[in-house]
Amino acid sequence: MSSDTDATADRNPTPAASRASGPEIIETPGQIRSWRVQQRRVGHTIGFVPTMGALHEGHLALIDHARERCDRVVVSIFVNPLQFDQISDLEQYPRTFDADLALCAAAGVAAVYAPSVATLYPDGYQTRVDPGPLANRLEGASRQGHFTGVATVVTKLLVAVGPDVAIFGAKDAQQLAVIRRIVNDLDLGVEIVGHPTVRDDDGLALSSRNRRLSDNERLAARCVPEALAAARSAYASGERSTGPLIETAVARITAEPTARLDYLQIVDPDSFESVHDDLVTDDGALIVTAVWIGETRLIDNMTLET
Ligand code: PAF
Repeated sequence: MSSDTDATADRNPTPAASRASGPEIIETPGQIRSWRVQQRRVGHTIGFVPTMGALHEGHLALIDHARERCDRVVVSIFVNPLQFDQISDLEQYPRTFDADLALCAAAGVAAVYAPSVATLYPDGYQTRVDPGPLANRLEGASRQGHFTGVATVVTKLLVAVGPDVAIFGAKDAQQLAVIRRIVNDLDLGVEIVGHPTVRDDDGLALSSRNRRLSDNERLAARCVPEALAAARSAYASGERSTGPLIETAVARITAEPTARLDYLQIVDPDSFESVHDDLVTDDGALIVTAVWIGETRLIDNMTLET
């Protein structure tokens, strides 16, 4: 692993003295295991929110949910190089460790697990977790190796933290399906909760990537939730044919000059296979999309239901 991908260098941790009352900061798998053993000894349940930092209201909603469910909450902050297919994307990923820590403190997080890249992937590291065909569709097809990277790091994090419950945002719907798959297939014994997408007033799903949008791009980005909402409302009004539902959504995106469609499909929420027979027969299918707004790639989804 090259040193320019080492997140430690970018993390710029707050000096210990100024974070006396904040969450405990834990940097190695061994330390987080010891922390977990202590918590278990006094009977505490553990909720876990894995993140890559740059925390926003969406993450805070996940943390709040974890606090409602469990006695102690752990947040991991780790920008995982394995899940980036473009080095430029990894380098541009926002790193705001001190601000993240302050948000975690205010949100009542008990521990922040923030290992370095060299700690999780030391020289000689080789193992990958392959989530199977689900990982090759849509996001996986557009971003080679992405879900292998996600599955590998999430498995390492879940094994180290050993939580009762782990909470993930439903905006990353395919990631959520991949994680459910690996937890089930590898008998990891953690309850996986998908938390509903949190949206800004303009409908845009909260994402760390939104901060890359210029003001004009931010306006243009509204086409993403509007496109999905248009298809969802057509479905609610009785349209069941996938063709017209998809065309309705695509029309809204192509009407936006700065938007470039990567994919837009209606899929089964577990397998992410396209809904067949040109007909959505049951509530619960997902309409999913990835759209470039300038240099920023946004993903979003909505459930088709009556
Ligand atoms: O959704 C994310 O922030 C990341 O993909 C995750 C789950 C923390 C793994 O790096």
